[in-house]
Amino acid sequence: MPVERTLCIVKPDAVEKRKAGAILARIEEGGFKVVALRMARLSVREAEGFYAVHEARPFFGELVQFMTRSPVVIAVLEREGAVTVWRDLMGATDPAKAQSGTIRKQFGANVGENATHGSDSADNAGKEIAYFFPGVEVSPTA
Ligand code: CMP
Repeated sequence: MPVERTLCIVKPDAVEKRKAGAILARIEEGGFKVVALRMARLSVREAEGFYAVHEARPFFGELVQFMTRSPVVIAVLEREGAVTVWRDLMGATDPAKAQSGTIRKQFGANVGENATHGSDSADNAGKEIAYFFPGVEVSPTA
């Protein structure tokens, strides 16, 4: 598997429960290198832009409201097969359907408040990283 990068967001529910550190520890224990990290309170405009692909979904308003209600932790993660490995570590979108041992199973409450976000493809990872870390080099390092 090639070394690649993916975007991780520790969502407001997990930060509010003071689980950001525990989640970052799981990420590092999972073999990822955290290569960029910041905490931010997203504006409505930022959240709407980030989730623009879901604009027509019935839950869009709820999603934007949730993502802007308190700070998030945004990280760029690097390792071999980062996109797939991070999605596997997070588990299913709905924590009720996530396998035991996954982050969403452990820390998520429901399909809306599911603790973390991860890019769904290498292509989208590049776009999402550039959205929150403009100017950061996206290519894998040696
Ligand atoms: P995420 O991986 O951040 O990408 C889009 C998000 O939309 C997803 O995680 C969920 O948190 C959220 N989402 C998906 N389906 C629903 C739903 N039915 N109701 C509320 N939020 C949802």
